[in-house]
Amino acid sequence: MALKFPDRYESDYLIIGSGIAGLFAAIKASELGSVIILTKKTVLDCNTVRAQGGIACVTDHGDNFDSHINDTIIAGAGLCNKRVVEKIIQDAPSRINDLLDLGAKFTRRRDLQERVSNEENNEYDLGKEGGHSKRRILHSGDITGEEIMRILYDACKRNSNIKILESFQAVDLISSKKLGLNGKNQCLGAYALNNRSNSVHTFHSKFVLLATGGAGKVYLYTSNPDVACGEGIAMAYRAYAKITNMEFFQFHPTCLYNPKARAFLISEAVRGEGAILKIKDRGTYIDFMNSYHESGSLAPRDIVARAIDKELKRTGQPCVYLDVTGHSESYLHKRFPNIFDTCLEFGFNMSKDFLPVVPAAHYCCGGVQTDVNGKTCVNNLFAIGEVGCTGFHGANRLASNSLLEALVVSNNAIEESKGMLQKCVKNESGRSLYNDIPDWSSGDAVDADELVVIYHNWDEIRRFMWDYVGIYRTTKRLQRAKTRIRNIRKEIEHFYWDFTITADLVELRNLASVAEMIIDSALERECSIGLHYNIDYPDADEAMMQKEIVLQRFETAGKSSKYSARV
Ligand code: SIN
Repeated sequence: MALKFPDRYESDYLIIGSGIAGLFAAIKASELGSVIILTKKTVLDCNTVRAQGGIACVTDHGDNFDSHINDTIIAGAGLCNKRVVEKIIQDAPSRINDLLDLGAKFTRRRDLQERVSNEENNEYDLGKEGGHSKRRILHSGDITGEEIMRILYDACKRNSNIKILESFQAVDLISSKKLGLNGKNQCLGAYALNNRSNSVHTFHSKFVLLATGGAGKVYLYTSNPDVACGEGIAMAYRAYAKITNMEFFQFHPTCLYNPKARAFLISEAVRGEGAILKIKDRGTYIDFMNSYHESGSLAPRDIVARAIDKELKRTGQPCVYLDVTGHSESYLHKRFPNIFDTCLEFGFNMSKDFLPVVPAAHYCCGGVQTDVNGKTCVNNLFAIGEVGCTGFHGANRLASNSLLEALVVSNNAIEESKGMLQKCVKNESGRSLYNDIPDWSSGDAVDADELVVIYHNWDEIRRFMWDYVGIYRTTKRLQRAKTRIRNIRKEIEHFYWDFTITADLVELRNLASVAEMIIDSALERECSIGLHYNIDYPDADEAMMQKEIVLQRFETAGKSSKYSARV
């Protein structure tokens, strides 16, 4: 029997996205009211599930908050918001305790017994990654994300206040300004496409939390899953939120180089356990990282990714190699079971073979501008996790800091919403704004006849973003990208307004919008800092480095009244 879905839904909290930020916020919010989670595929189609390294958190063992704060700010090239960094790092132990209470299991030293004495057996095994001056990464082998999703998803399924709707793709936020209502701009809910029935539903909600994750699919090569199209950023922009730091896109240095591996990540934690990067130069494997940074292969990610790019161009080689053969097979299999088995599937035994690796787009440090509570400039709209930009990561994210940020900011967002629940959907005279929300209307849009436009533009964006807006940028390349994206965006807008929407069209529209934001921000940042490297500006200009680059939509009217709900 086919399931029936109502046209309109109402909840206290609408959460868009189902990774660590979305599910953790849902669990916290369920103590205060009703929660709906929308996820465009299944709950487990998210970036979190792929997280390998772990969660950075100060535990005892000679570590302290100041050291973690300092490492974060150094990695962020001085562009981090220090107060945000302090708050997130100091809150880490409480949020980790929340995960432990929910049943999370992190690897203990006894699980890797080979290298520890008995009295240390019960301690957590702390991993190390680039830019951290101490071992401080809690992990579950190399499937930390899977473990976190397991406990969060279980808790959500058991909770009668949480309704999860899979295959529901958010199309747009509903905000009072988009509806032309007077007063401060306020988020009232969202329209979402049911991908099974192709119908659009209206979701009213007192609070909307964007937890849509990253935007790695904007690049041709990425460690991200297919769902990472940046829709939260694009939707927030269309609802007049501020978007910032989009020029800082992090490239992970080590993804498996194999056409069938789809940029499978080889965790930085492997280098934390001593793996060395090597380039094949005239038949000899050379350890090249020491000539780029004193920390060698464990230098911060931006430096390693740029060094690899340079070495590949210098030697004409297609990849570099990761040598972790100094460890035994049994240790590697225990510490990195997923990576070990996956490499084996591709014909590499980590304990014997060098692993061919290349960089790939990994993490969007920019996003919807928020405070440390995930609050945006649009009332009742929060952005949590990778989609938001609190200022924690600055110009370059320190490894394994993102799951931590997602936990702390999600918790803070729900705390912040307490006490606002009663008054948030009224206008100044106290009337409910829900009455003003029209249902979705397709006007006289028809089914598209030439879907090739969607696939062509999808491929073209991802390729020129990789070639022109990648690890090394020049102003000329950025301008080329700008010309192309402008034309493509026009074509997509035409499609969006004239044809009935489909999941692919919604994703493409968002992807193109995010690509344009990255290009615009990169063009505006006329210097090289952190993850943004423009060859035309090799030397740091202090004022340009510190400049706050914020994008915000200024036009107010929708395209046409016939699509009253489709602005
Ligand atoms: C990794 O395991 O290398 C990825 C961790 C991260 O991106 O923080």
